[in-house]
Order: sequence, then structure tokens, then C-alpha cells
Amino acid sequence: MLSPPPSAIPLGLLLLSLGLSGTDARATPHPPSPGLVSRTIDIVRRANVQRSAEDALSWLEQNRLATHAKYGVGAAGNQKRASGLNLLTDVQLDSTYFGSIAVGTPPTSFDVILDTGSSDLWLASGSSDTRSTRGITLFEPETSSTFQDLGKEFGITYGSGSAQGVLGEDRVLFSGFEVNQTFGLVNQTSQQLLTAPISGLMGLGFQTIAASGATPFWQSLAETSGALDSPLFAFQLTRFTNDSNAQQLEAGGTFTLGATNSSLFTGDIDYQDIPDGATGYWIQQLTGLKVNGQSINLPTGSNGWAAIDTGTTGVGVPSDTLQAIFSAIPNSQQGSGQSSGYYLYPCSTQVTVEVTWGSSSKSWTISPADFALQQVDQDTCAGAFFEIPTQGTSAPPFIFGDTFLKNVYSVFRSSPASVGFAQLSSESIAMNGANGAAPSATIGSVQSVTPTNTGSSGSGSGSSNGSGRASAVSASAVLASTVLGALAVLL
Ligand SMILES: *[C@@H]1O[C@H](CO)[C@@H](O)[C@H](O)[C@H]1NC(C)=O
Ligand SMILES: *[C@@H]1O[C@H](CO)[C@@H](O)[C@H](O)[C@H]1NC(C)=O
Ligand SMILES: *[C@@H]1O[C@H](CO)[C@@H](O)[C@H](O)[C@H]1NC(C)=O
Ligand SMILES: *[C@@H]1O[C@H](CO)[C@@H](O)[C@H](O)[C@H]1NC(C)=O
Ligand SMILES: *[C@@H]1O[C@H](CO)[C@@H](O)[C@H](O)[C@H]1NC(C)=O
Repeated sequence: MLSPPPSAIPLGLLLLSLGLSGTDARATPHPPSPGLVSRTIDIVRRANVQRSAEDALSWLEQNRLATHAKYGVGAAGNQKRASGLNLLTDVQLDSTYFGSIAVGTPPTSFDVILDTGSSDLWLASGSSDTRSTRGITLFEPETSSTFQDLGKEFGITYGSGSAQGVLGEDRVLFSGFEVNQTFGLVNQTSQQLLTAPISGLMGLGFQTIAASGATPFWQSLAETSGALDSPLFAFQLTRFTNDSNAQQLEAGGTFTLGATNSSLFTGDIDYQDIPDGATGYWIQQLTGLKVNGQSINLPTGSNGWAAIDTGTTGVGVPSDTLQAIFSAIPNSQQGSGQSSGYYLYPCSTQVTVEVTWGSSSKSWTISPADFALQQVDQDTCAGAFFEIPTQGTSAPPFIFGDTFLKNVYSVFRSSPASVGFAQLSSESIAMNGANGAAPSATIGSVQSVTPTNTGSSGSGSGSSNGSGRASAVSASAVLASTVLGALAVLL
């Protein structure tokens, strides 16, 4: 068993592979697995990774100089920029959302899950004597002149898997900013923790829960005077779950660092403080939950805390709350076997959930389309709310993921520490189900070039259970064992 630091359970990626584990995302949910299984596979280098084009590099260089100006370093002029944009990609019917970063000198771009439920940055990494599996673009430290090996091991465990490797530092460009960032170079992950084109994960929680101990990218900027217009970042996430024409990758919405984007929401942003200054996860006090108009009894105090987590697909709740929610839905029943941990209900029932946070008088509505996580047979759907017993761990009892976040504009603000929600604008809503090309990697408001995926898909080899190896494991076997939703593949 792993013994985590008391407040370091990354929530990210809960249920990530629910939709990624097969070609049919509407297949029967996988069972929560009975324990953290740490069978791992190697991530190894693929051949012929193409380098970024000359133009993109020249833009990236300019961007770096602009950032130097912002930090008061270098000889660059006054191209001060204090907020930036990253276009997101929605993977397989809202299973997960990724953005893009660029790392190293010369910079290479990578697609990473943007995860407010954890606080580490890591990338799949390999060296020149290894080969790739699964077409994942790898960070190759020997090709970056600014890379520094920090000589420490790194390990992290999520609800849906784990990743291990070493720590390094390099230039990281993201949403128009550059930071010398400590990050994990991961050479082992649980099977299917990553699926191409995703190469890693950018944790957007607070430093206090970082397994690496490093200050997260966003937080370094928020703590640097004048770096950001406002000490916050914001998400607008698209919905494709009920779009029968949806592709594997669709436009996922917009991430904004250092500002909110007023074209994406209407009305005021309703901020509620993180209770008790408990920064780590982005926590909110859940004070109201109505299911088709019926109020659900909620626990109080820290028993009613919820992490607002872009890296989780659905909504994790304690079992008694789950039971109460589905008592309000006629003809629903507890799932069993492959669907245990979920409830099943007639797909013909439109379920609307209203949520209230903190002392706010406002409530936010989860659409029936988002509540219907997966159709399991012709008439039966599995709801997006699932059981997540976090007792005995440091994770809050509720985890509100993308099922909720698709319905609001969400703002994560470090000072005062709070989370804000606003109504989506018609422009945002119009992006839902709007089929088209998924965005190219954006490192700022200008495109960069992603290495073309020309790698071999040779076979990976080797497995190890990894336990006891990583120096910074922040796993909770309890959490992992109950929310792994989709980890049949690991068993
Ligand atoms: C991963 O990296 C660590 C640290 O460098 C090394 O000890 C381990 O053998 C590597 N594992 C694989 C599968 O390459
Ligand atoms: C990053 O570190 C390098 C080397 O220490 C330094 O030259 C550069 O100015 C730093 N960049 C930023 C943005 O702090
Ligand atoms: C606001 O978001 C839209 C949609 O992603 C984008 O086109 C626009 O450039 C953004 N505006 C700013 C100032 O970032
Ligand atoms: C998908 O769900 C949303 C939210 O309920 C709804 O507005 C939209 O019309 C639905 N789209 C389709 C194609 O059914
Ligand atoms: C897995 O971990 C256990 C307990 O730490 C250890 O005894 C065993 O040798 C490990 N197996 C492998 C393949 O590393």
C-alpha cells in the first residue's frame, strides 16, 4: 500500500478511460476495480518524430522574448501580455479535454489534459534508444538545450491510473506564457492512462497537493507580481455527448489564463470562497442539490466539500447521496457487475439536476444530456453521478467533473481563493455539437506546429508494479480502488 502525504490525492482523470477504452463510448460502463492495480507498461520513443517547423519556432522565440519582458528579464521590448488563450480539444464525447503546451529549446508541442484536480505537470518521455507504443509523442530531453535533469524520481497515482518517472526542468510555454517549470518525465504509466494524441497532464490545482512539490505553472504566474492581469484562469467546455455525428476529437472550448473572456459568458461571475482557506484542490461547499425539482439532503461542513475537477468526466458522490439522487428518479436501480458504482435509469426519463454552491442564491443546472452518461442498452442509461467513497483519504467527498462544468463558464481564482461560475453565452452554447475540425495546438493565441504523428507503433514491453520506487507517490489506494470506473484493462 502506498502511504500518501495527507493532502495529496490527485483527483484528475477519474473515469477518464470510461470513454477511451473502446471504440464505442456508449458501451456498458466498466466496473470499478477492487484495488489499485499497478501493472504498468513502458512508454518508449517512437521513430521519426518530426520537429516543429521553422516558422513556428520563430513565433515561439518571439513569444519567449515577450515573456521575458514581462518578467523583466532579457533585452526584449514592451510586448507585455498578461493573459492568454488555449483552444481545447474534446476527446470522445466529452470523456476528457486537452490543451497544448510547448517544452524545451527548440520548443516542441504536446497535447496535455488540463486538470484542476491535481497539481503536477508531466509528459511521457523517452530517450533515443527506445521506441514508441501507441503513437504518443514523447518529450526527448536530449533534444532540448535548456533541459535540466533534477535527479529525483517522480510518481503520481490518479483515480484512473498512475505515472512514474523522473523530475526535470525546462522552459514550458502555455497560453502565451513561459515558465521554467519542474515537471515529471514519465516512462511508465498504467495501461491506457494516456491515449494518443495526449502526451501528459498539466495539473492546475495548488502547489500544496503537488506530488513533485513543484509550484504549478499557473500558480507561479499568479504569484509573480504583474504577470497576470488577474490571478485566475477560466474554462468553457463544449458538449458533444448527445451529438450523433461527433468525431473522436472535436473542438473542446476555451481555456483562458490571467483573464476571463467576456464573449464566453453572460451576467456576473458568482464567486464562492474555497471553504476554510483549504486550498489544494479547488473546493466548494455543496449547499444545494435538486433532482427534477426534488431536494436531496446533503452533509454539512467538510462532509459537503466538493472538488471542482476538469480532469474527471462525471460527478463522484458518497453512496448515501447517490442513493438519494436516484430515489428521485422513477424506475432507477443500482448497477451491478460491470455497472456497479453507477445507477441505471430509463433513458426516456429526462433528469435535470440543479446545484448550489456556498452561500450563493444562484443554482446551476446540469442538462439531461450530461446526466445521461452512457446508454447501456436500448432503453437503459447509466447516470453520470457515481459512487466515490473518499472516507479515510484527504480527497473531498464530492468530485464535480465535466458533467457539471459543461453547463457553466468556470473561473478558478487564487486571490481571494475561490471558484466562480457564470452562465454560458450564446456564442459558447453555439460551440456545443458544432462539428468541425478540432483545433490545432495553441501555445498562445498563435498556432504552433505539433510534431506529425509518424511514429512506428511497435510493441511495448515490460511491466513492473512500481510500488516503492517513486519518491513522490501521492496515491490513495482507497480512492483509486473505488473510482477507477474504467480500469478493467488494468486487471
Ligand atoms: C524509467 O526511468 C527510471 C529512472 O531513470 C529507470 O530506473 C527505469 O528503468 C525506467 N523504466 C523504463 C521501463 O524504462
Ligand atoms: C529560465 O532559466 C534560464 C536558465 O537558468 C534563464 O536563462 C531564463 O531567463 C529563465 N527564464 C525565465 C522565464 O525565468
Ligand atoms: C475569447 O474566446 C473566443 C472563443 O474561443 C476566442 O476566439 C477569442 O479570441 C477569445 N478572446 C480573447 C481576448 O482571448
Ligand atoms: C444536446 O443537449 C443540449 C442540452 O440539453 C441541448 O440543448 C441540445 O439541443 C442537445 N442536442 C441534440 C442534438 O440533441
Ligand atoms: C511488486 O511489489 C512487491 C511489493 O513491494 C514486490 O515484492 C514485488 O517484487 C514487486 N514485483 C515486481 C515485478 O516488481
